[in-house]
Amino acid sequence: MTFRALLLASAFTGALFATGARAGDLTIGFSQIGSESGWRAAETTVSKAEAKKRNITFKIADAQQKQENQIKAIRSFIAQGVDAIFLAPVVATGWDAVLKEAKEANIPVVLLDRDIDPSGKDLYLTAVTSDSVHEGKVAGEWLASQVGAKACNVVELQGTVGASVATNRKKGFEDGIAGHSNIKIVRSQTGDFTRAKGKEVMESFIKAEGGGKNICAVYAHNDDMMVGAIQAMKEAGLKPGKDILTVSIDSVPDIFKAMAAGEANATVELTPNMAGPAFDAVIAYKSKGTVPPKWIQTESKLYTQADDPMKIYESKKDLGY
Ligand code: AHR
Repeated sequence: MTFRALLLASAFTGALFATGARAGDLTIGFSQIGSESGWRAAETTVSKAEAKKRNITFKIADAQQKQENQIKAIRSFIAQGVDAIFLAPVVATGWDAVLKEAKEANIPVVLLDRDIDPSGKDLYLTAVTSDSVHEGKVAGEWLASQVGAKACNVVELQGTVGASVATNRKKGFEDGIAGHSNIKIVRSQTGDFTRAKGKEVMESFIKAEGGGKNICAVYAHNDDMMVGAIQAMKEAGLKPGKDILTVSIDSVPDIFKAMAAGEANATVELTPNMAGPAFDAVIAYKSKGTVPPKWIQTESKLYTQADDPMKIYESKKDLGY
């Protein structure tokens, strides 16, 4: 094949490696957590599309929320001799043994959207995540900007216990409201990142807080739990977005719909495209030996009702959420 023909071919089949190998030669396994939220579903859809763009053979194992299933999937990817493994770790601890196995097999691991404990830092190539402490801080600061000096009791819906993003989003929010002694988190419980549990926990918060009269704001670690909480508030005769302020994280289409209806106030965006930068890092690493930074940080952006939520809903609704 002539060089020109080779160039033309590479334009169609993906990146041409310096070594002559192509992106299409790579097989990558992804241990995905499950489908607990709209954001997670979008991440899976976007990952497949990003793999296709690069002509990568992409194998996804759905762990149904269980770490043991993720460990099994990683072992199976190692046995298959994949070129790299992506891992969205459901919790932060308990990975060292299996990640050592991947390292011994010379298979680079890339963390997607969640982190693991620092003890595992040498066991993965890079992590593509947002700054989840910052996300919580943005949410807390937004709330502080809205309530001013008014006393405000907040109820918090936490994500999955032990997940880095749950720990970090809690801490970040607390940082964001620090110095505002009028704002207090009066109740905080996990809703496991799901709509159903978000609703259930919010119902119990409303009962415990005078039918909701004592609640000034809800902070949820993801939009799906907030969508469930909005439902609980409406069923209790409350007006979410007005009687009770809401702020959550992800920016899924349904939260923009709620914002457009005046039933939600703010959301911090988490891009579902973690895999795109991860594929590029693996391709550069495999083809040129380029070692990526330990953390590839994705952007976090705050949206409020002032941002034309219906337009954002329209732009996002067909993206796999
Ligand atoms: O790790 C990212 C979080 O996981 C998302 O915010 C949440 O929706 C998902 O379940």
